[in-house]
Amino acid sequence: MVTPWPANCKASGSKTTSRSAGERRRFLHPWEVLSGPGRSLGVGIDGSEDPKGPKSGQNLTDQAGCTPRTESHMELRAPCQAAAPAARRKFCVLVGATGSVAALKLPHLVSALLGIPGLEVAVVTTERAKHFYSFQDIHVTLYSDADEWEMWKCRSDPVLHIELRRWADLLLIAPLDANTLGKVASGICDNLLTCVIRAWDCSKPLLFCPAMNTAMWEHPVTAQQVAQLKAFGYIEIPCVAKKLVCGDHGLGAMAEVGSIVDKVREIVSLHNDRQQC
Ligand SMILES: Cc1cc2nc3c(=O)[nH]c(=O)nc-3n(C[C@H](O)[C@H](O)[C@H](O)COP(=O)(O)O)c2cc1C
Repeated sequence: MVTPWPANCKASGSKTTSRSAGERRRFLHPWEVLSGPGRSLGVGIDGSEDPKGPKSGQNLTDQAGCTPRTESHMELRAPCQAAAPAARRKFCVLVGATGSVAALKLPHLVSALLGIPGLEVAVVTTERAKHFYSFQDIHVTLYSDADEWEMWKCRSDPVLHIELRRWADLLLIAPLDANTLGKVASGICDNLLTCVIRAWDCSKPLLFCPAMNTAMWEHPVTAQQVAQLKAFGYIEIPCVAKKLVCGDHGLGAMAEVGSIVDKVREIVSLHNDRQQC
């Protein structure tokens, strides 16, 4: 017997964290991202329309209600991927940012990634990471915990962390702080980013860039947790030694943005080579 679903879908959005002015934007569902020509992100973080993206009115869902969906995200993506010539397909990079002071570099990292041809970029941020950068400086779609709960109103709605793990070809966690490192090593998933990681398809690359104070880095649990992530098949972009923001000098600083981007470029290039075979 089919369980009856409530006719009135619950308004989960009202329960979620209130947004700052910079964060207020039209929420863009991943399938909107994917359904537009070239899978453009469609809107800027400030809600303004990207001329290359889908126009208002082209949305597949009504955000106020629970329009029954007949097409799943995968169904939209599959024909698009299959039909498009390899050269036109974009490689989708999801950047996960956590609450390290190195998240100050997130705007620079995102801009540098966008400099790689053929790349589509989106960001998932933890609440703590938000403290270190301005939303206005991130020129791609940015998702956080509230989006996960605002998106899901009834059974036919998609689950954001699952949509994102399907959408992304590469997950880049930069910076990865000690807290999220510990969670990932033990399988904890209590926010949007850790849910994406927990649901990650391990046949796709996951890069992580640890960033923490030297004392944290040198604690014996860190090496164990980093080793655990590597055992999952994740790729470490090692931290570097320098004078840290807290004044200490030593290992623990996130790898330079240039090194991170070089690693992503290498993976994209390998991917493109495989596509051509
Ligand atoms: C100013 C400031 C800087 C911080 N920098 C770091 C850091 O570089 N690395 C780290 O592991 N934790 C750092 N923390 C602590 C994390 O923000 C804290 O563990 C937080 O709970 C992480 O949450 P998240 O993993 O959900 O983002 C910092 C905290 C503050 C207040």
